[in-house]
Amino acid sequence: MDEQKINNTEENILNENSFEKKDEKEQLIEELSDMLAQTFIDNIEVLSSITLLTERFYDGSHSRFIAEKCVMVAEELGMDEESTYELKIAALLHDIGKITFFDSALHKNINEMSPLEYEHYKYHVDVGVYLLKKHKHLEKIANIVHQHHEKLDGSGFPLGLKEDSILPAAKIISVVNFFHNTVYKKPRTRSGAPARPTMVMDINAFLEATRAKYNFALNFLFNRRGILFEKKVVEVFIDIIQAERMSLGQKAVMRVPINKIEPGMVFAEDYYTKQGILIAAKGEAVKKEMIPALVRFAENDQLPMKILVLK
Ligand SMILES: [Fe+2]
Repeated sequence: MDEQKINNTEENILNENSFEKKDEKEQLIEELSDMLAQTFIDNIEVLSSITLLTERFYDGSHSRFIAEKCVMVAEELGMDEESTYELKIAALLHDIGKITFFDSALHKNINEMSPLEYEHYKYHVDVGVYLLKKHKHLEKIANIVHQHHEKLDGSGFPLGLKEDSILPAAKIISVVNFFHNTVYKKPRTRSGAPARPTMVMDINAFLEATRAKYNFALNFLFNRRGILFEKKVVEVFIDIIQAERMSLGQKAVMRVPINKIEPGMVFAEDYYTKQGILIAAKGEAVKKEMIPALVRFAENDQLPMKILVLK
């Protein structure tokens, strides 16, 4: 073998080794970034479960409803993917600061609060920011959470921000939040405790029973569009919610075996684990990725083998 050939062979071996090393390095980087992404999702899951503990005075899940509808509004408005993801997380965590509330404050509507209770209530956005800013990747999300009670005319809290100084994501949460707070607070017993969870047995009776609250909420939003709430957001949200209600009216209530659950069905009652964690919220649409977990919960005796859905 002449000297040139030997050099070429050595060079090839070196190149092959460096390719192998590069492959290993790339694979390691990929694994680490997958791990980091999963850790981030797990962190959000934990925080979101903490938020759920403040939601027993709602019919269904407040934060999950808001996250689902905010994403629909954002997509309709053409928000980019990254901002929509941040909005979704902010919507899931927007009321995390309410973990400092007593039950006596959790169930009240704003017009039922004493001045002192109202001052405490307003503080939940600051508590939310205090908690979320401890996670360096949640800084942007914390800022959205901080602004979810701001109003276009400056009458909101905590800062009284106006118009363009309010983040677009916070403007979307503000609209959906008002709607859900108005329509989906659970009725209370005389002692103030939340009434037992209800199930939807007759969809038309359910639509009729909620019609007044639903009309009030949509009229309020429509009449204050451009004053308290972002005009375009209100218009898109009303379209989404009306279309959804119309399609609900065409569905029927039925008990379906857990292994026959399909995407597009809607849960007709709240389902909790024995530990009181909400697994499936009334009014929430079944998504493909939920189904294996639902089956697992049923196999572990945490869910009935047949559940009530709108189909
Ligand atoms: Fe709030």
